[in-house]
Amino acid sequence: MKKIGLLGCGAIGTQIALAIDSGKIPAKLTHVYDGSKEASAKLVEKLNSKPIIVENSHLLSSNPVDIIVEAASQDAVKDVSLSVLQNKKDLMIMSVGALLDESIYDILSDACKDFKKTIYLPSGAIAGLDGIKAVHDELDSLSITTTKHPRSLKGAKFFENSDIDLDSLDSKTEIFQGTAKQAVSLFPANINVAALLSLTGIGSENTKVVIVADPKTDKNTHHIEAKGSFGKMTFTIENFPDPNNPKTSRLAILSAIETLRKYCSDEIQIGT
Ligand SMILES: NC(=O)c1ccc[n+]([C@@H]2O[C@H](COP(=O)([O-])OP(=O)(O)OC[C@H]3O[C@@H](n4cnc5c(N)ncnc54)[C@H](O)[C@@H]3O)[C@@H](O)[C@H]2O)c1
Repeated sequence: MKKIGLLGCGAIGTQIALAIDSGKIPAKLTHVYDGSKEASAKLVEKLNSKPIIVENSHLLSSNPVDIIVEAASQDAVKDVSLSVLQNKKDLMIMSVGALLDESIYDILSDACKDFKKTIYLPSGAIAGLDGIKAVHDELDSLSITTTKHPRSLKGAKFFENSDIDLDSLDSKTEIFQGTAKQAVSLFPANINVAALLSLTGIGSENTKVVIVADPKTDKNTHHIEAKGSFGKMTFTIENFPDPNNPKTSRLAILSAIETLRKYCSDEIQIGT
């Protein structure tokens, strides 16, 4: 049975840990770490099979685990990813925005080859990456429009230099239009899907992102359009936010659980 170390015990980390504990993911969660001791203790309390809480994030991969699951933050990705691979462990990353920093992407990509380990990026809160992956050599344009309730956008760096008052919006309002690269640095906790899309498709400078705040919506909606010599694809995904973290969609959690289940199972693999 595969052994898993978990970095980040928030909305996603907790649901992954519960899926392992219930047997849905056939694995053993052996070690966990969260910058907040309260968060890791609260998670461990919920589990029947108790993992060890380690004292810092680097200690996760120095233990005999097969894979480290990151569900913490872009900073956590920047801090630990290389040492995870150097310790010859696989890595699953949820805070995908960190990889739009090209130097980090290149270093990790080389490290995967050097240490013969794999980084897994689940499809997260979107669908259709299988199709976009298949046609990426024939793509001319790729765009994503993300619509969320204003409370799901709160705290983003973008608002430090903006006059928009999210609390006073009474109708659907376009907040941002730019490239995936810009969106990921201005909305780091919200727009991992744009990062995933651009890494799969035509790069972060060429992927167009629009962010809309809608005070009347109860969903996180992503509309994706891809065009090229292959034809055209459009996907609209209407996600319910996770009750514990409205910035995170339920689908992102389910997608992480499915990626990990697949990693831990010997079975027929369906899909591109
Ligand atoms: N790929 C996707 O589609 C997708 C979707 C949703 C969220 N995410 C990303 O996944 C990550 C986790 O999301 P969540 O909803 O569980 O967030 P959350 O805020 O509920 O939980 C994050 C946890 O990680 C801990 N943490 C943060 N930085 C840390 C660090 N450097 N070291 C150790 N612990 C740290 C926090 O204390 C917190 O307990 C976020 O970065 C989020 O942006 C990705």
